[in-house]
Amino acid sequence: MSDPLILTDVRGDGPLKVAVITLNRPKQLNALNDALMDELGAALKRFDADEGIGCIVITGSEKAFAAGADIAAMAKWNYMDVYKSDYITRNWETLKTVRKPVIAAVAGYALGGGCELAMMCDFVIAADSARFGQPEIKLGIIPGAGGTQRLPRAVGKAKAMDMVLTGRMMDAAEAERAGLVSRVVPADKLMEEALAAADAICGYSLPSLIAAKESVNRAFEAPLNEGMLFERRAFHALFATEDQKEGMDAFLNKRKPAFRHR
Ligand code: HXC
Repeated sequence: MSDPLILTDVRGDGPLKVAVITLNRPKQLNALNDALMDELGAALKRFDADEGIGCIVITGSEKAFAAGADIAAMAKWNYMDVYKSDYITRNWETLKTVRKPVIAAVAGYALGGGCELAMMCDFVIAADSARFGQPEIKLGIIPGAGGTQRLPRAVGKAKAMDMVLTGRMMDAAEAERAGLVSRVVPADKLMEEALAAADAICGYSLPSLIAAKESVNRAFEAPLNEGMLFERRAFHALFATEDQKEGMDAFLNKRKPAFRHR
């Protein structure tokens, strides 16, 4: 039997656990083919629906988070193939429908679709070995899963144009300076740090986590006044939760809150 294209694991000791999804085509540097993306999409949907899961971490191998969409598969396709069947792109938006926080833990190459996948996560924790790039131009194509749209929003037009037009890679330090990643950690501490962040998230109230994620995402999709209105509505709505009473009572009584996610 062939190896699974992704590995999944559930970690943590609290009531809400962390789901870890590991991309698992190490020999191909985790090149993303449709079968892998189908498995990833199904796992994301499963964990998002699972009431015992509070946060999802997506990671790859030491050498590659993912070196992009599978060039061997793409090489054979023509326009009608990709247009009619939506090859490659069809499952990517599944990640954007996940309501729980998703962290990318990136070591090694995050190129092309790999960089795009990392950018679709809520934030990226990078190993000092991480390298980001959109090298599609070298193949006679352009990014197809948000590279031309999310990269400029993350790092600004100048760097995005530089990366997309020259195909050069950014190392982890440059990616942190540019705002593409939230933090850089030593490679041998990557999973420890990512899991610690995920564990902290799992200790909070799920309704407030979902509202926080929706509200931050609004900042990229709405004008400021609409985003502010959205935030205010979400802020007010959280006063209808038991967890708001619990969080504030716990603070005032100097105890740890026991959120019940409602
Ligand atoms: C298929 C890939 C691959 C890819 C690496 N491999 N990247 N196979 N698709 N994207 C395979 C190689 O063919 C090789 O297989 C094995 O993985 C190891 O790779 P090497 O090239 O030997 O490793 P190395 O010399 O260390 O170079 C690493 C690398 C290089 C710099 C990351 O592999 C590389 O440039 N890869 C392509 C990166 C790229 O162009 N990505 C964008 C793809 S387009 P064998 O069988 O020889 O051992 C894209 C569009 C997104 O992502 C669209 C989204 C909708």
